[in-house]
Amino acid sequence: MNIMNSPTRNRKLLAWVDEVAAKTRPDRIYWCDGSKEEYDLLCAEMVRGGTLIRLNEKKRPNSYLCRSDPADVARVEDRTFICSANKDDAGPTNNWIDPKEMRAKLDTLFAGSMRGRTMYVIPFSMGPLGSPISHIGVQLTDSPYVTVSMRTMTRMGKPALDILGESKFIPCLHSVGAPLAPGQKDVPWPCNAEHKYIVHFPDDYSIISYGSGYGGNALLGKKCFSLRIASLMGRDQGWLAEHMLILGVESPQGEKTYVAAAFPSACGKTNFAMLVPPEGFDGWKVTTIGDDIAWIKPQADGTLRAINPEAGFFGVAPGTGMKSNPNAVKMLGRDCIFTNVAMTDDGDVWWEGLTDESPSHLIDWQGKDWTPESGRKAAHPNSRFTVSARQCPSFDPVGDDPAGVPISAFIFGGRLSKTFPLVYEARNWQNGVYWAAVMGSEATAAAENQAAIRRDPYAMLPFCGYNMADYWTHWLGIEKKAKNLPRIYRVNWFRKDENGKFIWPGFGENMRVLKWIVDRVNGRAAAAEGPFGFQPRYEDLNWKGLEFGKDRYRRISDIDAAEGLAEAEDQTVLFQSFGNRMPAALETERRDLIARLKSAPPVWTAG
Ligand code: OXD
Ligand code: MN
Repeated sequence: MNIMNSPTRNRKLLAWVDEVAAKTRPDRIYWCDGSKEEYDLLCAEMVRGGTLIRLNEKKRPNSYLCRSDPADVARVEDRTFICSANKDDAGPTNNWIDPKEMRAKLDTLFAGSMRGRTMYVIPFSMGPLGSPISHIGVQLTDSPYVTVSMRTMTRMGKPALDILGESKFIPCLHSVGAPLAPGQKDVPWPCNAEHKYIVHFPDDYSIISYGSGYGGNALLGKKCFSLRIASLMGRDQGWLAEHMLILGVESPQGEKTYVAAAFPSACGKTNFAMLVPPEGFDGWKVTTIGDDIAWIKPQADGTLRAINPEAGFFGVAPGTGMKSNPNAVKMLGRDCIFTNVAMTDDGDVWWEGLTDESPSHLIDWQGKDWTPESGRKAAHPNSRFTVSARQCPSFDPVGDDPAGVPISAFIFGGRLSKTFPLVYEARNWQNGVYWAAVMGSEATAAAENQAAIRRDPYAMLPFCGYNMADYWTHWLGIEKKAKNLPRIYRVNWFRKDENGKFIWPGFGENMRVLKWIVDRVNGRAAAAEGPFGFQPRYEDLNWKGLEFGKDRYRRISDIDAAEGLAEAEDQTVLFQSFGNRMPAALETERRDLIARLKSAPPVWTAG
């Protein structure tokens, strides 16, 4: 490549672009500048090619619907690999193939894989431009859908390239794996039906993805870089890359407290990040910094400061409505790309949960006629919106601040119908690491009493780029890196009654729990010490505006010692799977819990 005609003098980048082009043989190479004109042009081209459908300009200005191939609709965890030199370094929770073998396999697949297509060069910053917590990546892709999505999800284009200068970047190589023969007509959603590989190489922090154009498989800044590779960088450099939302709570007096929270999929993370305080919280405000990922670095002053590495939301559409998340509905009014949702007769979008009643006719996510009698979902359960974070009414402008925000609390949750109370505070850092390590959601709601917990430590099961036991050791070590350690909490919105109904109303009412947490970290709230940790008594929560009596509160806050002991016993399955990599401190915590439960009353109550 002619260095004079390139927008960068970064020799490593130029050489890599040349090398990939020589291997993949694209018809053209295009360097993205990240401008709005570029975005609009690419979208117009995709409309012409049938990849995007422009939505009704009056109802949903500058927005598009995309329908993926029905076989390419979600992250492919069984095709996701951590190719460390030693298998044990990937650990029992990751897929592993020897890196040499994997590189050879990928070399074969990438040979000529971009023929007939354009290779887009996408420089991007994960995190605010120029932040000491941010990092720069460059993605090469043959997908224009990925290219426009990266503009929304990251700080992409010339400014990122300028910051990169001649320094190092994370190389992210992606191909949909669908080369075009001369004259061959393209399909709206090219992908490879036979081969899909989402691969991470810890030895050089590189990412190679082949065969899929969807979500986290293809927008490589997200799960691949910001979680799997960044968790490795964090281990090596002393910081944390977490599957966490970040939100701010502002009191009526203007005091601001920031918390980060991790929940497994399908626990309402985006809803929590955009929470609207209910009645009884006059003057309180919740602001959104991120809904999925947090990068957290210990600072010289002993605080942990966090940024959201992403610039947009790639959220699940179904279940997003005015009751569950009014801020999300408002932010989706314009400048969005919707993927695999349904289309209304007047050229707008719809998904299950957007409105109480479904329209009488729709075109479903596969482009077929749909009526409420069809007996199938109109939108794919993993259909998504892609939108700039700045469009969210609760977006906190501090989310663009390179300094990040100081984190005062970590919150961990799961979907659990019993055993776990509404909220408790861990006894100390080590105890909190233990409670986060054993978190998870019930695999099934069907067999209520035997519902097994699918462990999802830190909600990082598919996202940790190395051995999970080493990750826990890393977390334990953070205790020595920070002076003002955030406190650690577990929450559970999902306890059920004997009829299988949720007892806690959830959504905006979760503010009652959030306020208690904020009051605790600011030294204002009391708690009772129980076998799991410190729990609010009934009178420690603000109940203004909600009818929820003390008896009901007991049903979501009491600790049943026998259930607790069964839980502690069940955790051994997880811990034993890590063999001698397991940090002893977590087993100590488990045994201490057993001892506390054995000396507790059969049913412990906070009161
Ligand atoms: C996501 C996930 O897509 O966590 O954010 O699965
Ligand atoms: Mn996620």
